[in-house]
Amino acid sequence: MGEALVSINPANNEDLVGAFPVSTGEEVDQAVKAARAAYPSWSAMPAPKRGEILFKVAKILEERKEELGHLVTREMGKVISEGLSDVQEAIDMAYYMAGEGRRLQGETIPSELGDKDAKTVRESIGTFAIITPWNFPVAIPSWKLFACLIAGNTAVIKPSSDAPQCAYEFVRILHDAGVPEDVVKIVFGPGHGVGTRLISNYVDGISFTGSCEVGSGVERTAAAFRMPVSTEMGGKNAVIIMNDADLDLAAQGCVWGGFGTAGQRCTAASRIVIHKEVFNDFALKFGALVKELTVGDPFTCDVGPVVNKAAKEKIEGYITDGASRYKCLQNENSIGDLSKGNFVMPTVFLDVDRNDKLAQEEIFGPVVCLIKADNLDDAIDIVNDTKYGLSSAVFTNDIRNSALCERRLKTGIVYINAATIGAEIQFPFGGIKATGMGPREAGGRGGALDFYTNWKVIYRDYSGKLQKAQVEEEE
Ligand code: UN1
Repeated sequence: MGEALVSINPANNEDLVGAFPVSTGEEVDQAVKAARAAYPSWSAMPAPKRGEILFKVAKILEERKEELGHLVTREMGKVISEGLSDVQEAIDMAYYMAGEGRRLQGETIPSELGDKDAKTVRESIGTFAIITPWNFPVAIPSWKLFACLIAGNTAVIKPSSDAPQCAYEFVRILHDAGVPEDVVKIVFGPGHGVGTRLISNYVDGISFTGSCEVGSGVERTAAAFRMPVSTEMGGKNAVIIMNDADLDLAAQGCVWGGFGTAGQRCTAASRIVIHKEVFNDFALKFGALVKELTVGDPFTCDVGPVVNKAAKEKIEGYITDGASRYKCLQNENSIGDLSKGNFVMPTVFLDVDRNDKLAQEEIFGPVVCLIKADNLDDAIDIVNDTKYGLSSAVFTNDIRNSALCERRLKTGIVYINAATIGAEIQFPFGGIKATGMGPREAGGRGGALDFYTNWKVIYRDYSGKLQKAQVEEEE
């Protein structure tokens, strides 16, 4: 018997969600081999036909939304409304990419020569390694796989060991809808070992979402093998609250941004940068809302557990350390017995120094720090002063403030009068600096399709004579 990977409900450590054998090295090799062998026929299928299969995927996901949403909540602990949204995001993506099967456009551009035409076409690339996290265990595999598949590629997916059951069900749905079994293979196991074997195998590209530490290694491997790579590795996202903002709306937005998914989104609003004139008013309103959140069973409460024991310990380490330096406010509104789950109480740190580790490191838990700013320039500097660049937001009713933020905030996504979370699938998703590299996820042109296709330029000369571009014709 080989090693087993055991998935446990983070809200109740007595509830075993699923168990999978850790894939052996040979199994990983076999999976890549099978997906490569499936590539010629899958890529030869007309893209609208592949789109029809994705349309069926969307239908099945819709039919099974309730059941899958419950599985998401049970397996990784986000509250049920968000478990269902996770599946909805995959449904949206399936319909969107199904439609792309009838687009996948290139361009025709005039040639500088007569009787010659020229066009660009998108071509599929081959077999991709897809490495996905646990925090959006259905949505993120859908962002990566649907774009990969509609473009005509095949894939081997390795989901996080904290959410294997969701990935297993998801891949089964693809197969049930008519994606041939070898077009999408799944392997299970830790990043070091199974993940490393997968990306060092002969694949044609890697899409990775996860930690900065692991992602940097993925980028280095991709460079060594000269493979296209797209990494998405988190953020230290911030919301600016200006002195002209609607503070009630801003407080609600920041609760959603900071404590949605128990703060375990790479887009989570973990820093709130507040104009000094409204710091106290905002802190009071925000604090009151945070105190009201119910913490407990994710099927009935506002905030569920964090994903596993190690995550709980890491987050609580930040809280204990931060509490020795800053005033903090902690939610005490737990419901029921939390002793069997990995619960962390929502915590807000007040007046944190912009350079403190609470304000610089990605905590990935229900911890938010409030930072005071002198004015808009100062606030923008604070937001930009981190190694990450995923998402940022500003609450303001002043058009000039909003325009300056749009232009000067150094992140891949900027929200005006909304928190840092909630990206929609038809737009490219991702960021700059240490957040990641390579073309963005999601979206179509300018997004994921640019990662999963290569451009080819075709020049056709029907003049019947030798025409030379850039060379002046002799008289
Ligand atoms: C992530 O946390 O990795 O914009 C993805 C959002 C979600 C996706 C988050 N639609 O918050």
